[in-house]
Amino acid sequence: MSSKELLLGIDVGTTGSKALLVDDEGGVLAEELVEYPMFTPHPLWAEQNPAHWWNATIQAIRGVLDCAGVTGSSICCVGLAGQMHGLVLIDSKGDVLRPCIMWNDQRTVKQCEDVMKMLGEDGVLGLVGNPMLPGFTAPKIAWVRQHEPELYARIDKVLLPKDYVRYRLTGGCVSDVADASGTALFDVRNRRWSDDMLAAFEVPRDWLCDVTESIETSSEISAEAFEATGLAAGTPVVGGAGDQAAGAISAGIVDEGGVSVMLGTSGVVFAASKSYRVEPKGRLHAFCHAVPGMWHLMGVMLSAGGSLRWYRDALCHQEKAAARDLGIDTYELLTEAARKVPAGCEDLLFLPYLSGERTPYADPHARGVFFGLTLRHQKEHMTRAVMEGVAYGLRDSLELMRSLGVKIDEVRMLGGGAKSLLWRQILADVFSTRIISNVVTQGAAYGAALLAGVGAGAFEDVNDACAKAGSQAVDHGCVETEPGNGKEIYATAYPRYQSLYKALKDEFTRA
Ligand code: XUL
Repeated sequence: MSSKELLLGIDVGTTGSKALLVDDEGGVLAEELVEYPMFTPHPLWAEQNPAHWWNATIQAIRGVLDCAGVTGSSICCVGLAGQMHGLVLIDSKGDVLRPCIMWNDQRTVKQCEDVMKMLGEDGVLGLVGNPMLPGFTAPKIAWVRQHEPELYARIDKVLLPKDYVRYRLTGGCVSDVADASGTALFDVRNRRWSDDMLAAFEVPRDWLCDVTESIETSSEISAEAFEATGLAAGTPVVGGAGDQAAGAISAGIVDEGGVSVMLGTSGVVFAASKSYRVEPKGRLHAFCHAVPGMWHLMGVMLSAGGSLRWYRDALCHQEKAAARDLGIDTYELLTEAARKVPAGCEDLLFLPYLSGERTPYADPHARGVFFGLTLRHQKEHMTRAVMEGVAYGLRDSLELMRSLGVKIDEVRMLGGGAKSLLWRQILADVFSTRIISNVVTQGAAYGAALLAGVGAGAFEDVNDACAKAGSQAVDHGCVETEPGNGKEIYATAYPRYQSLYKALKDEFTRA
């Protein structure tokens, strides 16, 4: 690296834009998160204003430069990560045509059905390695064509959220293979746009960005962006990645067989793979990894930590007040009581489908359920049942990966849920694996900075970057699965959990 030795990672997330300044040993010098709102103009819709992302990103960049007391000229490379699957449309002047339709927006059920009918399930899987799901980008374009034809006629470019920020930073329309994988327009096997899928959606090729590998230089900071952010004009920006692939880089999930579970609002099971593998029914996402020449499998549960948050906010007002008086976190109070409940919660089950589900059912109609309540059950049983239900839901993705030959003895845990020892123990016993949780807590923004470091030559390759990052990790300790701990009880409760969804599936649709 030259005298400019710092790396800047930016994560254009769902709640805010995070900037992270990292040195060439992987040390974090400064971090700034600037939040923005999400809008739900109709039930099941989710939108954000790209101008909010840009303004937040400017503030976050200026924030880290100020905090570290450096100027933009000390940054040698920038990496971008971001929420995946969102649809940003711009016209020929570069103006945004409508709010972004986000990853968690469910309006496109009909558009997905239309394409699945036209190309067949196997046809879609064959072209893009994934089924057509409402959260993905392609059906959102079809929705705009049907519902907003005047606006559709003015489309010049289709961008993903972080790529819109790149456009503002550099003027370049570029994406990366990992994020492009989540559009359902991308030939994941061959790491390029799928001409056949573009034809099916009648999307002209020149609407789409050029695509790079995540560590390659995509474009350079423009003179306008220098004025706005203070970053030096000409600074390279690497391709970067969608937030999950970038998060996996930050956790060192870069070799065949590496598996992580991210327990945040959603729950994501991620397995790195040297080969392109597709689950025969498309129940796992098959995407390009941010490591050149690698892919990954992914299961996404929509309400994981989100289920426990809902439970706390909807049902635990007394505990919230008590925790406030004691000066501790409500989750601490709740999980301490839940720890004393026997594994299996004396046959109480919770289905965590509070916002429908993506993996393994791709069912927007699924709903949350407490099942098996008796007079014996107390609040702490319900708390533990929520935690166990989330663990069973994550195991669904793990089992699909095992069915494809992925050997899983050890899972690296990240996200807010990783802080809970009880949850880590429940996951170890439900999965029958060791749970490790020594990861860098800054997640996707840190992964983006590491990718920038590889692009700039500060690290030899992604593995070298991850080795350096390892020394920055926060270690919560390793949890083993022990016989007698609940493992045997979970082995019988898990099939009951699975049967319960099947028994209720039609009822969910009728509701
Ligand atoms: C991944 C996914 C989410 C979003 C928002 O498939 O939908 O992780 O990227 O974080």
